[in-house]
Amino acid sequence: MNDSLTDSLQRPLRDLRLSVTDRCNFRCTYCMPEEVFGPDFKFLPKDSILTFEEMERLTRLFARLGVEKVRITGGEPLLRRELPKLIEKIAAIEGIRDIAITTNGSLLRKQAAALKAAGLDRVTISLDSLDEETFRKLNGNKSNTERVLEGIEAAAEAGLQVKINMVVQKGKNSEDILPMAEYFKSKKHILRFIEYMDVGNTNGWKMDEVVGKKEILNRIGQAMPLEPLEPNYKGEVASRYRYEDDGQEIGVISSVTDSFCSTCSRARVSAEGKLYTCLFAEDGHDLKSLLRSGAADEEILRSISSIWEVRADRYSDERREGKPAGHKVEMSRIGG
Ligand code: GTP
Ligand code: 5AD
Ligand code: SF4
Ligand code: SF4
Repeated sequence: MNDSLTDSLQRPLRDLRLSVTDRCNFRCTYCMPEEVFGPDFKFLPKDSILTFEEMERLTRLFARLGVEKVRITGGEPLLRRELPKLIEKIAAIEGIRDIAITTNGSLLRKQAAALKAAGLDRVTISLDSLDEETFRKLNGNKSNTERVLEGIEAAAEAGLQVKINMVVQKGKNSEDILPMAEYFKSKKHILRFIEYMDVGNTNGWKMDEVVGKKEILNRIGQAMPLEPLEPNYKGEVASRYRYEDDGQEIGVISSVTDSFCSTCSRARVSAEGKLYTCLFAEDGHDLKSLLRSGAADEEILRSISSIWEVRADRYSDERREGKPAGHKVEMSRIGG
């Protein structure tokens, strides 16, 4: 492992978020609104998407540069056929000590056991409301709560570590904060509240639709007192809390009101093999051409290192400082 690789702000490369498809079976209004991602939308053609062998090779090279954690994302990663085969390959790579997946949960019930058997450690399921009407409105009328809740329980039963993500939007699902907190407290699953972010260019993000970390914690804390916890690791995205009565953990991801760029060690690779050094980057660096041109490992390692060494991204910090946003990659391309 190369411990010395750091970017221009002294941040190491530790996490790889690997998107395996740009497609999704949901149309969440804040990520893939139906008006933009409709029947005529052109998704990536199959031959421009990395094969599992290419993803395995890249991950092996990233591991040599210091990556220890891999998170599989999409679009919706469980739409990618035979995903457990990729998990198996990644689990066998020296240096990778944690493999997780971020999914909408709709296809999880069927796949949970096979994913666990392949070596998956953890699964994070997005669920924005327990109220049927609200949930349907937010996911573009593509699924129901029961299906996702079944997926969550199937994952837990299969022995996967489970977290739930709820993106909070004022006036859309902010009244669901407390019911969600109570439900997942009783189920003993870690629920994380995510401040609605200005990712991509299609969701019409407005600051006044954001419910900040302080308000989220106040609302929950008034009903069920909380105490803060230390981070699990340096650069953890969520700030962690636990309920005073039963110790159950929750988290808040506050990239809008309390950003965390100074410790950001995450690289993202899109399904078409572009390396993004920030969730809000305008464009990525093409690694697929290198892979497909017959480049040797050392050449690809040099290319990734030289990109990381000059990395200066700190978008969420800059937005708080008032810097205007430019054009950004769509969330569904790089999986959040
Ligand atoms: P673990 O801490 O390993 O469990 O994973 P995670 O919380 O990083 O992963 P997850 O996919 O659950 O991300 C949760 C939310 O945080 C998503 O909405 C992501 O888009 C957001 N997020 C993750 N990494 C970053 C980041 O580097 N910058 C910003 N602004 N948001 C991020
Ligand atoms: N703001 C905050 N979180 C978002 N996600 C998708 N779009 C946004 C947004 N605009 C979340 C998904 C998923 C994770 C990968 O990112 O709900 O939990
Ligand atoms: Fe699909 Fe996740 Fe985006 Fe919703 S947030 S449209 S489930 S990729
Ligand atoms: Fe990292 Fe960019 Fe997110 Fe900041 S905004 S934490 S640099 S991905």
